[in-house]
Parts: sequence; C-alpha cells; structure tokens
Amino acid sequence: MGVFDSGMGGLTVLHECLVTLPHEDFVYLGDGARLPYGPRPLDEIRRFVREIAGYLEGQGVKLIVAACNSATSAALPELQELLEVPIVGVITPEAHAAVQATRNRRVGLLATQATVSSRRYEELVRALDAGVRLSAVPCPRLVPLIESDDPFGEETTLAVREYAAPLKAADVDTVILGCTHYPLIRPIFQRVFGRGVTLVFSAEETAREAAETLARKQIENAEGREGSYRFLTTGDPEQFREMGARFLQLPIDAVEVVSLAELEKAAA
Ligand code: DGL
Repeated sequence: MGVFDSGMGGLTVLHECLVTLPHEDFVYLGDGARLPYGPRPLDEIRRFVREIAGYLEGQGVKLIVAACNSATSAALPELQELLEVPIVGVITPEAHAAVQATRNRRVGLLATQATVSSRRYEELVRALDAGVRLSAVPCPRLVPLIESDDPFGEETTLAVREYAAPLKAADVDTVILGCTHYPLIRPIFQRVFGRGVTLVFSAEETAREAAETLARKQIENAEGREGSYRFLTTGDPEQFREMGARFLQLPIDAVEVVSLAELEKAAA
C-alpha cells in the first residue's frame, strides 16, 4: 500500500494502518521539500498530489491512502478520476464518524486553511445528514507548533484554547480534528474540550476504511505473514528519521530520497 502526506503528519495514519494491517507492506512518501501544504492555494496542492499519486502508482501499490487532510480536500475526486488504483482519503471516514457520533447535530472542525477553504467536510457532512450544522475554524499556528521543539508548551495550549472558543460558543458536542498532525497533541484537545465532547481523529477512521476497502475488494495479503514498511522523502532524510519517530511511535531505519524532478515526471 502507498501512503503519502505533505510531510510527517501522515505517519500517525501509517501507525494506525500498521497496527490494523500488520500483514500488509507499506511505502510511505512525505513531501518534506514542499511542506507545509496547509497555507498553499488548492490548485498548487492538486499539482503536487497528482505527482505523488502517479509516482506511487508507478511503484505498483494496490491501494493509496492520502494521509493528509489538505491534500485530500484539494485533490481526492480528481485523483480518483485519474488513477487506476483505489485511493482512500482522510476526510470521508472522519465526516462519517462525526455524523454518527453527534447527539445535538452540532459538529466542529479544526483544520488547516486549505482544508477549511475547500469546504469538503461541509459537503460530506451535508450529504450524510443535511440537518447537521458544521462550524469550521482554520488553525494556521498548530502545525508549526506541533513540529517545534516544544509541542506541549504553553503556546500550544493557548492556541488550542483560542481555536476551540468559537466551537464551544456554537455548543458543538463533536469535533473533527481534521489534520494529521493533531493526534500528537491529543491530550491538550481533550483537556480543552472536556469529556463531554467527542473528538474524531483521521488516523483511526482512515485505517479502518483502508482495511475495509482491501477486504471488500479481496486484495488483502494472507494473514500470518509480517508486512514490511519503507520510507521516502523529498526533504532531509535525517530530519525525517528523527522527527518521524515522534509521529510514527515505531522505529524508522532507512529513509530514501526521491527528487522533485522524479515526482514531476510521474504526474498522473
Ligand atoms: N498534513 C497536513 C494536513 O493534514 C498538515 C501539514 C501541512 O500543512 O502540510 O492537513
């Protein structure tokens, strides 16, 4: 299976996939050279994602997981039209889980600017239950804070409180954490929102959807074998290895480099 992200956040999704599907083989590609995607225009993100998905398809993967909310928001329908291989994004599983979880039909969304601007969550939530009200807040400071040397510092808590305030005012009982970086600061969200609010994370929901897709298409590997995983980055491999372990919570040995020129050639 191929899994990709703008950088390392998608490793939280890979973590869940490795736990849910230990018998599958994975190749993970992080576009470290062009991180972050969140503040970029949707058209530019679409171009990057066409390159990465084309490259992974060329590697012979049987399923692609777009483990980045910004990439999924900008490009999933277009990718599904272009590629032969099935592709699962992080947004549909979360929208589904949120609509099922909410009791008062008020749902919040915290995500990057690109994800909020695309309005993809609104569309999906509406398609599932047109009576659900979605309040979305872009959180441009969170990704840099989570990647900083002090992700659990006072500044992160203050930023989360500020972004959470309009959602609390809207009386939401369910919050979609629509960015693959956010599981890293899960306890901060849980403390700010309190036990009464259900938090929906992309990693768990997407791993479940990927597993179901493999099973329904009958393309799973035989259980009992141990799968492998490898890492590719367009950025600095050493930085990927060090910071990546924080996101993956499993050891990362070798990291291979893919050039942007190789990706451009592979564009779907
Ligand atoms: N992976 C991105 C997402 O899930 C966050 C990092 C970025 O802005 O590139 O939206």
